[in-house]
Parts: sequence; C-alpha cells; structure tokens
Amino acid sequence: MALRITSLREYDQQYQRSIEEPEAFWSEVASDFHWQQKWDRVFSGGFEHVDFKWFEGARLNITENCLDRHLKSHASRTALIWEPNDPKENGRTLTYRQLYEEVCRCSNLLRLLGIGKGDTVCIYLPMIPELVVSVLACARIGAVHSVVFGGFSAGSLADRIRDSQAKLLITADGYYRGSKPVNLKSMADEALRNCPSVKHVLVVNRSQFPISIVPGRDSYWDQLIAKCSPNCEPESMEAEDPLFILYTSGSTGKPKGLLHTTAGYMVYAGFTFLNVFQYRENEIFWCTADVGWITGHTYVVYGPLLNAATILIYEGVPHHPSWSRWWDIIDKYRVNIFYTAPTAIRSFEAQGDQHLAHANLSSLRLLGSVGEPINEEAWHWFFQKVGKGNCPIVDTWWQTETGGIAISTLAGITPQKPAHAGWPLPGIVPVLFDDNGRMITQAGVEGNLCLARSWPGQARTIYGDHQRFIQTYFSRFPGYYFTGDGCRRTEQGFYRITGRVDDVIKVSGHRLGTAELENAINQHPEVVESAVVNIPHAVTGEAIVAFVVTRSLEVDVQRLEQEVIDLVTRSIGPIAKPKQVIVVTGLPKTRSGKIMRRILRKLLQGETSNLGDSSTLLNPEIVTEIAEQLEQNPVRVN
Ligand code: WTA
Repeated sequence: MALRITSLREYDQQYQRSIEEPEAFWSEVASDFHWQQKWDRVFSGGFEHVDFKWFEGARLNITENCLDRHLKSHASRTALIWEPNDPKENGRTLTYRQLYEEVCRCSNLLRLLGIGKGDTVCIYLPMIPELVVSVLACARIGAVHSVVFGGFSAGSLADRIRDSQAKLLITADGYYRGSKPVNLKSMADEALRNCPSVKHVLVVNRSQFPISIVPGRDSYWDQLIAKCSPNCEPESMEAEDPLFILYTSGSTGKPKGLLHTTAGYMVYAGFTFLNVFQYRENEIFWCTADVGWITGHTYVVYGPLLNAATILIYEGVPHHPSWSRWWDIIDKYRVNIFYTAPTAIRSFEAQGDQHLAHANLSSLRLLGSVGEPINEEAWHWFFQKVGKGNCPIVDTWWQTETGGIAISTLAGITPQKPAHAGWPLPGIVPVLFDDNGRMITQAGVEGNLCLARSWPGQARTIYGDHQRFIQTYFSRFPGYYFTGDGCRRTEQGFYRITGRVDDVIKVSGHRLGTAELENAINQHPEVVESAVVNIPHAVTGEAIVAFVVTRSLEVDVQRLEQEVIDLVTRSIGPIAKPKQVIVVTGLPKTRSGKIMRRILRKLLQGETSNLGDSSTLLNPEIVTEIAEQLEQNPVRVN
C-alpha cells in the first residue's frame, strides 16, 4: 500500500498534509487500491448541509480489492483461520484463492435467490467462516449487508430486519457459545413472524440441533452452494453506493442503522489497518470482536483483507473450556497482533495470572484495545503479562459512526501513554467544546469531543432517516460532528476518552441505549415506569442498574428483579441484563417530565449533596427518599 507512515517525522508531515491538502493526501492513499474507474472529485459537501461525499465519480468493488487483487501474488497465502468453540473440533483455514472461490459461490447463490444490487441482506450467524464469506458475497453483488450480532434476541433481530427491509436472512441452525447451546434458527423463526420483507432464509449447518424448515422460504446453504460456480463477476459500484448498514444504540429508543458507503469506507479501513497496526506481510492478526459489531466489520473483515493479511476468527467465549483458551489459541497459531477489549483484559486479570503461566506468547508483536476506556491497571497488566513488556499497545478510539480508528497511537511510531488513545490519525481534527458550546483550547479540561472535518470512513446517514442523523450528530455543536464522548487533551496533545456524555451505556464495550432498555423493562405488567443508569464496574467497565416504579408497593422484589432480567434478555439479549433492579415510589423528573438520570447516577455513588443544578427538579422529596433507601440497602453491584 502506498501510504505507510514509518516514523514520527513522517506522521507529523502526513498529518499536516492531511489537514492542509486533504484532497491530495487522500488521493495518494486511494491510489494504491484497484479502481474500475478513478474519481472525479476526492471530496465534496460538508458538515453544514451534512452532505459529505468521497471519491465521487469512481467505480469499484471492494471485494476485488479484498480478494481478486491478491490472487496474482498471494493466492496460496492463508486469508482466514477459523478456530471453533470446542477445542477438540478441527478448525479450518482458507487461502486467498479458497476464500475468493467461496465468496464467488455465495455471490452466485445470492443472485440465484433473487438478490441484486441495492437489496438488503440480514446476516445472523455465529463466528464461522460463512459469516465472513456472506459479508463479502453481499459486497460482491452490490447487496447491502446488515449483520446482526448472534447474541441479540429475536425481538432485536426483528426490529433490525423491519427497519432495513431485508429480503434475505442468512442464519445457522444453531451453535454452542462455550457450553451453552444457542438455538439461532428458532430465534430467527420467531423474529420472522413479523418480517414480511424476508422472502428467503439461508441456513448454514453448524450444529445438529433439530430445526423447522419453512418450505419455499428456507433452504440449506450446503445444498445450494455446492452447485454454484466459483467465479462471479463483481458488480460495478459507485463510490457512494451503500456497502452496509450496522445498527447501534443511541439516546432514543429505536436503534440507528448507520449507513456506510463503498469507496470512502474502503480507503479508510485499509489505511487505518495498515498504519495503526503497522501490519507486516505474513503476520497473523487476531481481532476478538464479533463481526456483528463495527470492530468486526472493519478489523476482522475489510481492513485486514484489503491488506492481504491473515485473519483469525474464534467462535467461542474467552473462558471455554478454561481461562487459558485465548492464550492457547495465540500459541497454537502464533498470533502476531492481538486486538481486544478492556472488559476481556479485566476479566482475565480478575481470574489470576495462573492461567497465563504456561503460555509462551512470544509470537506477539503488538496489542490493541478498543470499545471502552482502558484503565491504567488493566493497561499495565496487558502490557506486562500478555505482552511481556515487549509489545506496544494501541488504544484505539473510534465508533460505529467513524467506520475506522480515528484516534490512536500508531504502533511503535507515535508515543503511547497508558489510558490515553493518543494522537489523531491523519484527516481527523478533534475539537473539544464545553457544555455551553465554547471551544476548549487549554489542556487538561474535560469537554465534549467533536470532529471538525469529514474523513472518508464517516457514516453518511442513518438508514431511512437523514433528519435523525443531522439531529443526533450535527445539531448540538453546529458545523461539527459530535461524537457523544467526553474527552480530555494533555499538554502533549494526547486524547483521553472519559466515556459517554449521552444516554448510552457501555457494558463490556457493548453499546446500549437507556431508552431501549427502559422500553423493554416497561413491558413488564407490574412496571409503571423505569429509569436505567450506569455505574462503574470493575470488570465490565459499566453496569446497569434499573430503578422501577411498580403499580403496587407490595411487590416481591427478588421475583420482579429476575423477571425484569429475563424480559430484557428476551427482548434485547443477554448483554443488556441489568445487574440490579431497585423498586422506588417515583423517579426524579424535571418540570417538563424528563427523568433526571444524572441525579440517580450520583445517588448510586453515595452522593447526596452536590447533585448539580436541581432547580428544575419537580419532586425533590423523591430524591431524599431514594437516597435514604440506598443508604439502608446499598447497591450490590461489583
Ligand atoms: C467507546 C466501537 C475509550 C466510546 C469501536 C465510543 C472508547 C464508543 C474507545 C463507540 C477507546 C471506543 N477508549 N472509549 N479506545 N473505543 N470507545 O460504536 O464511548 O460500538 O463512542 O464502536 O465506544 O462504540 P461502538
């Protein structure tokens, strides 16, 4: 790839250039990709009208860049290593040639099922090679993929299918997550009861679970794919044609389908992968994220494959069958780059170092962290115990909306500082604002993190609701993209992300909206209303506490708590489970009726004075009551 930053000086130069001559900079980055037709303009539009576009006029197919382009010199290089959940089961590896052929077969199969350019395909699969294959097959024929994390419930799946109007669902019969069976097909069937847009379901055989097959709608992947040709002409895509929709939680109830387009996303994914991880030929890259999240899209699938890297995907959970599983996998495949989340690091730390004692880990060159702030203790543990003090750590800050890493150390090139993401990547201009919209220029002051300019990987809209996109990201600080994160900048220009400043909670790095959680809890027949707040948690970073107002005061709290937890698990998924449910007689509200979660958060932390500006508080007596209640029964979380 053309633009590889290899020294601190070069970082300074390229960063400067990306700001002063962005078109020349991005044009150089883009020039090393394969284009069916080059662009007319590198960039147009902007934040004022929220109409930014990249590489307009260009034509391309991202899979030609991920696959075809590598066949000439790297056909026999391993593209994908798959490690199954059960260590006794054989894994699989696919060379670039084999991956190309699988993707082409699947592309032909999708076309056979009537899928074409612009159609949406929903993918609901465990971490198996077919997940990567189907994502790429969609891209090859110009279908828009919408991957839904396999841990989401039927209800969440149905919401996402309905919003995206997917025509086809790709799923599996079932699988094991650790020792737990997951009946994926039966959840898909439940979801599909209310999803008329789905005409076909393609089922991958992964388990022996009995499933029901709906004739005319459902077919087996294995039976059809074998008949499909291993070559498939890629669709010619325009630069701004949609590549995928990925749903994420926001402050309001309905998950947002962020839409990423083809050329800008590709250029940004390829560039950031190469430079942040300083990827070297033949290295084995393991990103532990599920492809159901943006990290999986950009750094399991697209970023590495664009760079002809070897990716490892693992189907299971970190502790199955024991807490040494991940370290065994690293040694088994001699993984060089290991990219994971702070929650995972803290869980390992909490289990004790004996699980690492036998591990060699000498293949590791570089470690990465993503998804939530990493605390210094976890950083040092990761550095010493996993990296043996030899591997740099890249603490990569980014979001579903940014498409790729936006603030991070470049491994071994720019300086690292524990618990700080570091400096911005080329093209990224971070700006901090105080709550009154004044720009913060001094160091050390916390503010709202915004980005001043568009970058190629930026999401273009919320699918089907551009107004909501404008409202969510461009209205609070006009002319800037608002990230929703709090942040501090040091004298040396390092950025330290402090966490969300909106109603988004990050549990184990998973992004959950308070409104979405409350909607689920409010379905309980005994619940009148609820408020969900986050509290710090030693392993998961944040945990959820739900305050609920019940119809009757005579309620068995233990039973209710269990029922609320079950309800949330059923309607969203196990990742969204509250840690504790607290029954209260009322919730603190503003005079206009908005729940003041900020006050509940402070009460949970034992603060009774200094509750901020509560002049707008409608019912101060409730605050006193909840404070007393919490004093008598402190929260159990942690
Ligand atoms: C948080 C995940 C601190 C942040 C790629 C952001 C981080 C949200 C970091 C996006 C980091 C991500 N340090 N916080 N290195 N990386 N975050 O969309 O709050 O699932 O806004 O994308 O995760 O979460 P998302």
